[in-house]
Amino acid sequence: MYFNILTLFPEMFNGPLNESMIGRAQENDLLDINIINIRDYASGKHQVTDDAPYGGGAGMVMKVEPVYKAWEDKCRNEKDSSPVILMSPQGRKLNQEIVKDLSAQEGLTVICGHYEGFDDRIRSSIVTDEISIGDYVLTGGELAAMVLIDAVARMIPGVLGDENSVINDSFYNGLLDYPHYTRPRSFKGMEVPEVLLSGNHAEIDKWRQQESLKRTLLRRPDLMEVKTLTAEEIELLED
Ligand code: ADE
Repeated sequence: MYFNILTLFPEMFNGPLNESMIGRAQENDLLDINIINIRDYASGKHQVTDDAPYGGGAGMVMKVEPVYKAWEDKCRNEKDSSPVILMSPQGRKLNQEIVKDLSAQEGLTVICGHYEGFDDRIRSSIVTDEISIGDYVLTGGELAAMVLIDAVARMIPGVLGDENSVINDSFYNGLLDYPHYTRPRSFKGMEVPEVLLSGNHAEIDKWRQQESLKRTLLRRPDLMEVKTLTAEEIELLED
């Protein structure tokens, strides 16, 4: 899967996406991440990428031409209808369902907004989707783009070492993940639950499903409201 990232701050992407699982996935050619510097497409000696807002007011506005030219040069492809996503607090709020849908695409083009805002014609000329990573405002779309790319990339088969990791994720079946433990058995008087040491896999599965349901009910009742519980899950809750 490819990711084209249009940004004014390409250096911000140097670290995070080259480490760990996402770094390895790039080395293994499962991911192709292209960082495109919008400033390279700005005209004039000073390669200006922002300007004062029409109508007045504080702050600067990101210009449309450099973004459009960068997209036209590096991302435009008549045969590819993959989304062009604008990262912005005004977009639809990211969740695991959106992440899963996006991971089925051939690629994603991601535009990182900056300054006080961007010329709205960036939206109307090339953007097909707009995504927010939460109801708060960041200084720019770069961190949000990295969040999106990390979440989408790990859904691609082969990116995580163990395929089961995605299946056991929080949110995979609309529930939070169950608690995990590893050695030592006892830590400062806190013991690993007996059932996990029993070797009885049916009991372990049952315990995990119950813990998953209980956690979700306690911590995220909003998730329970929208989830349709299976007969088995109702039985586990009542047990
Ligand atoms: N840019 C600034 N704030 C953002 C947010 N919450 N989500 C996505 N992009 C952003």
